[in-house]
Amino acid sequence: MIRKTYLPGATIFFEGQPADCAYIVERGQVEICAVRDRTHITLATLGQGEIFGEMAVLDDGVRSAEARAVQETEVLIIRSDQLRRRILEAEPIVGQVLSSLIKRFRQAQTGLLSDLPTRMGTSHVVMPNANCDEIGSSGAALEWLLREYDLERGLAAGEFVPFFQPIVMIEDGSIAGFEALARWRHPERGLVPPSEFIDLGERCGLIRHIDLAIIAEACRLLRQATPAGATPFLSVNLSAQHFTDFGVVASLSKILSDTGFDPAYLKVELTETALVQDPRKAHEVLTQIKGLGVTIALDDFGTGYSSLSYLHSFPFDVLKIDQSFVRQLGKPGRTHDIVETIIMLANRMGMLVVAEGIETPDLIPPLQQLGCTFGQGYHYSRPVPASELAGLLAR
Ligand code: CMP
Ligand code: MG
Repeated sequence: MIRKTYLPGATIFFEGQPADCAYIVERGQVEICAVRDRTHITLATLGQGEIFGEMAVLDDGVRSAEARAVQETEVLIIRSDQLRRRILEAEPIVGQVLSSLIKRFRQAQTGLLSDLPTRMGTSHVVMPNANCDEIGSSGAALEWLLREYDLERGLAAGEFVPFFQPIVMIEDGSIAGFEALARWRHPERGLVPPSEFIDLGERCGLIRHIDLAIIAEACRLLRQATPAGATPFLSVNLSAQHFTDFGVVASLSKILSDTGFDPAYLKVELTETALVQDPRKAHEVLTQIKGLGVTIALDDFGTGYSSLSYLHSFPFDVLKIDQSFVRQLGKPGRTHDIVETIIMLANRMGMLVVAEGIETPDLIPPLQQLGCTFGQGYHYSRPVPASELAGLLAR
């Protein structure tokens, strides 16, 4: 349930009750009140866009006051886990500030409402652990919540589907494998590209579920489309959040056994951002993933860190050179030398190279000369839906 409507005078919750959600007023008016010595005390009157019921959710305490609808009121419900997830993404200081604010507020309220029983919460707000710049205005809060609900709904409805972009042999242009790329078939918005949902998914912690849904579906579909014998590989993306615990290893293992996909043909792509936060943990997770028989590709190499120490200490099998470098090939400048050096370095280290973003045929001869194994880009093919896989493979 996302919304709830209350008639005038209806109680939303009582003082002292435990809490499992907070609310945002979408329409109408809410009175926050307390009763002392049979006297009704109005603490606040809240209108559209205002949040209430957040305190007991954040500190695991009980409701510090009663909430009731003044007029017919529609509220949007924020589940505890949604609110907590958002705070977990924020700077740790945000949790500390919230925690002390709530504690002081409860103490002050106890003093003001003389005989308020000792109903203190634990004053133990969940602690954030990453960046978040957007706990901002009530409008923004409503917006993210609605988008998060929509994302959850889409996931449950199976609206996230893989598209397949061929990865070809540079030598002769034949298809060697596919990268599975996420698309959201939205009932109202049509086919939504990842640029419009990855960030939201990362912020609300649903990105892991999206990744796994895409991987499972891609394994199933590619297996279905592939005649026995000719087996293209499948490259799938794992976002950084997977590398903070081992859950992903069991999930991948289950996907492989459920779909019957041969792990030797599965490549997991990750970017260096997945490694920076906790390199040791990421290393262990990667090692366990490799233990499933899967290979590992480092994505978007050349942008971001491009760290030689990561290249050296992580067990990558494939290096994907970012399109911003590939596109400069053949043009005057030093990019050519950089790409050449990266390919040489990769080859020396026993890694295969994929050149990303090949949009024009003039890039192919220099890549052939440089000894690049694989290529990917619009020149060969855009990402296609599963229905076009068989056609591509028969080409
Ligand atoms: P919670 O303690 O979960 O439940 C009661 C809610 O009322 C509380 O969270 C706040 O959202 C709100 N609240 C409590 N006291 C006041 C107050 N003095 N002014 C405004 N809002 C309040
Ligand atoms: Mg990728």
